[in-house]
Amino acid sequence: MTRQFFVGGNFKMNPITRKDKLALVKVLNDAELDPAVEVVVSPPALYLIPLAESIRKDIKIAAQNCYFKDSGAFTGEISPAQLVDAQIPYVILGHSERRTLFHETSEEVAQKTSAALAKGLSIILCIGETLHEREAGETGKVCQSQLKAVVDVLKKAIGGDSSYPKIVIAYEPVWAIGTGKVATPQQAQEAHADIRSFLSKAVSSAVADSTRIIYGGSVNGGNCKELSTLPDVDGFLVGGASLKPEFVQIVNSKK
Ligand code: G3P
Repeated sequence: MTRQFFVGGNFKMNPITRKDKLALVKVLNDAELDPAVEVVVSPPALYLIPLAESIRKDIKIAAQNCYFKDSGAFTGEISPAQLVDAQIPYVILGHSERRTLFHETSEEVAQKTSAALAKGLSIILCIGETLHEREAGETGKVCQSQLKAVVDVLKKAIGGDSSYPKIVIAYEPVWAIGTGKVATPQQAQEAHADIRSFLSKAVSSAVADSTRIIYGGSVNGGNCKELSTLPDVDGFLVGGASLKPEFVQIVNSKK
């Protein structure tokens, strides 16, 4: 089964200045990108529409989060319906920073995922264990639990299994995010294969084979090539390096 390679750039709460924003867009618009790779970049919500209007059309835009209601008294939130209206096709959900800093539970992530899929959005669904959980040998258990919350909700949702083509799973070990401590190829392959095996048992072998599982956590121009050769690594979700010209190298890591 060939799965289209996927590289996401999660800008997080960056950049700050107009000068830096314009520089970032110029790097991306001027770059020679592998046409076989699906590229999605995710700016802060404030910049979603301006970036969508200024970036080349072969790069898609993702929001970094959304709520599960379409409208109402939810100060500070943005809704799946508003993203659709703004023609933003992707949303990142369940990022570990949402889970740890903003106390999002797997059940809330599942509810958001179901609501966003129902509106036709595509999802980058983040899962991953903390260092404590890894050292306790709980990596598989934690990732499966986070994923199971979504699987259980989709089983009851309209469209159920047919939603999976719109989900890209991002395995992001929390201990590798922003630390420079990238997972070893063995750690990444093991975790991705375990996630794919869980999908096969919990949903179907067809969904397991076709779902892209991408790696995130200190990916850079120096480590992306080796990671991109792993059989169950279908791409990357890049943080810090997505704000730098080396993001282009990461997009082209399969070349
Ligand atoms: O969502 C991607 C992000 O969490 C990874 O961050 O800076 O380790 O590439 P970074």
